[in-house]
This record gives sequence, C-alpha cells and structure tokens, in this order.
Amino acid sequence: MFRNISVIGLGKLGYPMAQFLSSSGAKISCYDKDLELVNKLKQDQGAHLHERGLNNLVNNNNDIIFYDNISDCVRDAEIIYVTVPTPSKLDGSFSNEVILEILNEISLEIIKTKKPYIININSTVQPGSIDDEIIPFLESKGLKSNENFYIIYNPYFVALGSVIRNLEEPDYLLIGSSSIYAAKKITKFYNSLYKNPKIKLLKFKEAELTKLLVNTYLTTKISYSNFVKNICKDFDDISDLRVLESVGLDSRIGTKFMLPGGPYSGPCLPRDNLSLKKFCLDHNIQNSFSDEVQRINNATIENLYKVVSNLKNNHKIKSFGFLGLGYKSNTQCFEESYSIKMMNFLESLNIKVFYYDPYLSETFNATRVKNFEELTLNSDIIFLSYIDQHFNPIVQVKHKKKIWDLWYHFSDSKFNKIFHKESDFEKFSDISSDSSGNIVKLVNKVS
Ligand SMILES: NC(=O)c1ccc[n+]([C@@H]2O[C@H](COP(=O)([O-])OP(=O)(O)OC[C@H]3O[C@@H](n4cnc5c(N)ncnc54)[C@H](O)[C@@H]3O)[C@@H](O)[C@H]2O)c1
Repeated sequence: MFRNISVIGLGKLGYPMAQFLSSSGAKISCYDKDLELVNKLKQDQGAHLHERGLNNLVNNNNDIIFYDNISDCVRDAEIIYVTVPTPSKLDGSFSNEVILEILNEISLEIIKTKKPYIININSTVQPGSIDDEIIPFLESKGLKSNENFYIIYNPYFVALGSVIRNLEEPDYLLIGSSSIYAAKKITKFYNSLYKNPKIKLLKFKEAELTKLLVNTYLTTKISYSNFVKNICKDFDDISDLRVLESVGLDSRIGTKFMLPGGPYSGPCLPRDNLSLKKFCLDHNIQNSFSDEVQRINNATIENLYKVVSNLKNNHKIKSFGFLGLGYKSNTQCFEESYSIKMMNFLESLNIKVFYYDPYLSETFNATRVKNFEELTLNSDIIFLSYIDQHFNPIVQVKHKKKIWDLWYHFSDSKFNKIFHKESDFEKFSDISSDSSGNIVKLVNKVS
C-alpha cells in the first residue's frame, strides 16, 4: 500500500487520476507546470473538466497537495504517476519530450536523496519508448534501472466524460514492467484499491503495443460500421442501424461501437491509429490495414460534407445549428472534432452557423448562442453532435425544426423531423403538423 503518491501533469487524465488515487487514503502530491491551471484547480476543483463523478471524489476531504516544483512534489513519493502530454509528431509517432523533461528533474532528486522511486508512466507512448528511450535516458544520468529507479508503464483506458467511472471500473489493468519488485508493489496496491482487479502484467513493448491495439481496434469497429452504412446507403429497404445491431448480436463481435454514425475523433483514437502505422513502417511490417481504416474515416467526413452541400443546394438550407462543437458531451475537448470540420465547411458555403455548447470555453467563428431554444430559433436545421440534458425535445417540436441525428440517439420514424440520412430529410420536409411529436427514449448506444 502506498502512503505517498505523486501525480505530475494535471490535465484531462491527471487531475481525475489524482482525485481517484486519493480515495486509497494516500497523500497525493501534485504538480503541473501550468500555474494558471493549478490555480483554477484549487478554485474549481476540476469543475471545468465536466467529469461525471469527480465532484463526489472532491468532496471526500482527500489529502491532495499542490507543489510548484517537481523536486518538492516527488520527495516523499513511493510511486510517481506521470500523465503529461505525448504530442504526435509529424510522422505519427508520439513525442517523449515532456516525459524526458520530467525524468530529468526526477533524476536530480534521485541523485540527491538516493531514493529508488517507482515511476509510473500513464501517458501513451510509442512502442519501444521505455526500453529504447526512457530507461536509457535515466541511465545516461548514472542511474541503474531496477536499482536506482523502477519504471512501470500503466496506461489507463478512459473516455472523456466518463474518466472517473473508467478509473474506478477498468476492464483490466495493463501493466508493463521489467522488475518483479515493482510489479509486486503495484499489484499489491491495485489489489487494495480495486475489488478483484484483472491485472495483465506484460513486458514494456507488449504493454505499449497493447494500448495502441485496443484503441485501433475501436477505430476499426467505427470504420467497419461506416463501411456498412455506406453499403446500405442507397437501399430504401435496408436499415443500416438494424443491420449493424444484428451483426453485433453475435457475441464474438459485440454491439459496442456498432452504429452507423460519424467518424472517430477526439484526442486518442485518430492519433493512435497513426502511431500504429508508424510503428509498422519502422519495423518494415506490411500494413494497409491502418490506411484503410483511416481512408474510411476520411470518407465518412467527406460524406458529411456532401450531405451538407446537398442540403444547401436541394433544400435551400441557409442556417445550421450545432448542439455541441466539442467531440462529445461533457467535455471541453474539441480535438479532431468533426463538428468543427463541418462548421468550417458550412462557412465556406456561406451558410450561417450557430452553435450551443455548454462545455467549451473557446470561441469560434460561428455565432455562439445561450441555449437550445435560441439555437432552434436561429437555425433551419440542427445537428446533434451529441445529446445530453441540453437537448430539449419540447423546444424542437414547438419550433418544428428538423434535427440531423447522426448517431441515432432517437429511433426511426416516431420522432417527427428527426433524420439520419439525407433521403429521410425529403420525407420529413412534407410533415407540417407534428407538434405532438412522439418522443422516444434515448437509445444512446455509444458511451
Ligand atoms: N485524455 C484522455 O482521454 C487520455 C486517455 C488515455 C491516455 N491519455 C494520455 O495521457 C497523456 C495525458 O493526456 P491528457 O489528456 O491528460 O493531456 P492534457 O493536455 O489534458 O494534460 C496534460 C497536463 O500536463 C501538463 N504538463 C505539460 N508539460 C508539463 C511539464 N513539463 N511538467 C508538468 N506538467 C506538464 C499540462 O500543463 C497539462 O495540464 C497523453 O499521453 C494522452 O495520450 C489521455
């Protein structure tokens, strides 16, 4: 059981991680180089992250202390969690620059205190990083691996908006290690933190690759679903939704991520796919697979542009409203958001764009409105990037506006003027009196 844990990097993963780890009863020492962020965290305790369940952890009187430098932050630590950015380089691989910057500071502390810290890298790294870059870097400071320091690679599988649930209820814990001592320590810790956790202990490169392969499997499922959507597109008598639901009922396949919808986006999936591609390239491994997954994803965005162009040309749409520009509900993150790509495309067509996004603090070229009703009043059509409590079906029905429900949050036909594909739009154009629209329950298949 660790009594003193440090967390370095307090972003979308790091701060929820710090709060979660504090539920073990340990003292959590935190550091982030962004002092403005630290001040914000001290004030709002992560409210800006909109993470469900974070509030409950915050209210538990946890022992969390912020430091303004790394050496003070790690001094008493038995284990140091490192959750800093590993930005994608132009070639698709992840940069370890920030990790090395931090390890440099920690190495000075090890030399001073002679304490053999366990350093737990949570950031996603390129396979091979720990053996080929991270350990050699620390050894270049005169330190010996598994003697003066212990590295663990322990990426978590989290989705923004549900980070706390994902931390609390992981399917399994992926741990890369080369030391029996460190592996035993972390296993013991997780056995005290979780009830019967599934722990998978691997070599570093295996764990690094596994992290990428899980996410790229998800991109594969999303692209497969969009491939099926494309197959069904021109058949009036085939529902892509029903076909994919049925395919997913085979337990070997599963229903998760089997939904005709939009492209994959966000801070992890697109770049993990590129990283795997680079890994294969570096090792002369033939891989047209990653290219095809990405090609389908790009085509999915292109198809959205086509629908938008047709809505303008064939249906004289002049204004367009987005419920959400971020890539999903409950997050301030808009990395690789297809709604923003669509917004830019719409603007290039001189279509007036409005958006209502209660989570984003950034502003965009499009006109930001204060609530869903204002969005509905201003827009000929509303695009549901996601759906949450900010969507108000009563308002939508009252103003008789059409809704583009890309992700099938509502099932077909019952909810008037909800359309999923362009051909439906025509159908709903004819409906004039739908104010008693039959609202169906959310089906919300993608968490
Ligand atoms: N966010 C996710 O859903 C998610 C999921 C799985 C893995 N990851 C991985 O976790 C890592 C962190 O992701 P994130 O989304 O939390 O990033 P983030 O950008 O939200 O947060 C990173 C934090 O690190 C801080 N930082 C940067 N340089 C620093 C330094 N030198 N010293 C101390 N702090 C520093 C930044 O100020 C920032 O607050 C990445 O490798 C990412 O790929 C993220």
